[in-house]
Amino acid sequence: RRPDPFTLVIFGAAGDLAHRKLFPALYNLMVDGWLPPDFRIVGIARRAYNNAEFRQEVATSVQSFSRRPPDLAVLNRLTGGLSYITADFKDPAAYEALKTLLTDPEGGFPPNYLFYLATPPQAYRVIAAAIGEAGLNRSPDPHGWVRIIVEKPFGHDLESALSLNHDLHQVFEEPQIYRIDHYLGKETVQNILVFRFANGIFEPLWNRQYIDHVQITVAESLGVEGRGSYYDQAGALRDMVQNHMLQLLSLIAMEPPVAFEADAVRDEKVKVLRSIRPFSTRDITQFTVRAQYETGSIDGEVVPGYLDEPDIASDSRTETYVALRLLIDNWRWAGVPFYLRTGKRLAKRATEIAIQFKRAPRQFFRQTETSELEPNQLTIKIQPDEGISLRFGAKVPGPAIRVRTVNMEFLYGTSFAGSPPEAYERLLLDAMVGDSTLFTRKDEVEEAWTLVTSILHGWERARGPLATYESGSWGPREADELIARDGFQWRRP
Ligand code: BG6
Repeated sequence: RRPDPFTLVIFGAAGDLAHRKLFPALYNLMVDGWLPPDFRIVGIARRAYNNAEFRQEVATSVQSFSRRPPDLAVLNRLTGGLSYITADFKDPAAYEALKTLLTDPEGGFPPNYLFYLATPPQAYRVIAAAIGEAGLNRSPDPHGWVRIIVEKPFGHDLESALSLNHDLHQVFEEPQIYRIDHYLGKETVQNILVFRFANGIFEPLWNRQYIDHVQITVAESLGVEGRGSYYDQAGALRDMVQNHMLQLLSLIAMEPPVAFEADAVRDEKVKVLRSIRPFSTRDITQFTVRAQYETGSIDGEVVPGYLDEPDIASDSRTETYVALRLLIDNWRWAGVPFYLRTGKRLAKRATEIAIQFKRAPRQFFRQTETSELEPNQLTIKIQPDEGISLRFGAKVPGPAIRVRTVNMEFLYGTSFAGSPPEAYERLLLDAMVGDSTLFTRKDEVEEAWTLVTSILHGWERARGPLATYESGSWGPREADELIARDGFQWRRP
């Protein structure tokens, strides 16, 4: 579906997110013909630009960051529809200027507004309240619409998330609010639901009868990359687990929705989050690990330890790595452990979900004289090398019966042509057409924070040691011990 004509208002339009992600995504949507002909963008930020300078900046960003070489005709069409307001988000005059622009009958634009909060999180509530004050939270036309996209981080803990939801709800109805988790915009993440529910052969096996355990890994080789002041306040649990990893977990573990509709899908995801067993004090020490990277080498290059990164407190106890074991107390998953790990400065970038199946009830064959046949493993590779692989045992050709583990692979690169759309293209388009399936609902965010906040409190109480790991390794020894306690080991991506 192509969106109705509308105006996109980007708060924080001079920032990094807008320039690296949003404008290139808008450009690609325009190339693919997804944007309506009468569409315009208003940027608002504190940095002083006039319209011409802003257009030039946007053109440069698209040229640097678009996944496709820019077509100048399309780029000119995109930048031709841009205007810019230099303002402090607290200044009511900015919203008056915006209102004049949005409601100008000469402009000929229907009153459909999409607001995008691409700002630091402290500004979210200020902007939302000011939009409300200016009366821009409802369209003057009964057929018109107003929506607001809120970037992450959505809160710092349960209390702040509840309070942010409360403040947004003073101005907007829940269906108007689109909370971003860019992982949901990734093709391979959306494919989890297609893989599970468009095929007949996997779902019958997708439960405690056949699945032994699940491992979700989000490994990054990058460090904090100039985001030290944000990251040191956040840490890996808030930065990655609260949002992206719990989203992956929900999609893997959810029940089939009654329909492929926003609320039906999100109802099922929330149920998964609600079924996660709360951590007891003992579980916090046994089944969570937090660690910080030390110096080491990545791709042959020596990199500094976390404490030597810019803007990091010299005695910081912020974790750059987390490993957890979660249990989902419902009929499908009772007794099946889910292991999650994520970290910065690990050996390589790899996000994947490995589903390990139970062994055949009797083993006739041995892999070699000494070792058992490996269990079947289905791995959903989210990035890079996107695809799905299934490991199983096969007979090594020859007179003796010898079994070896082999791989059956599906690779996006060989099955599909062209570069896939970026996450932000899909998410922007969905918000433009009013589909919130791939956005996080209020109760989902709150459930995720309930779990994460309980872990944060557990860590505070335990005051246990913070583990360390060498940059370029696969994480701390304590994480290997965590999974070994159940008799397993981490998969090497
Ligand atoms: C962001 C985190 O949400 O996701 C970053 O704030 C992290 O710290 C990034 O690097 C990872 O996203 P991607 O798409 O590169 O896996």
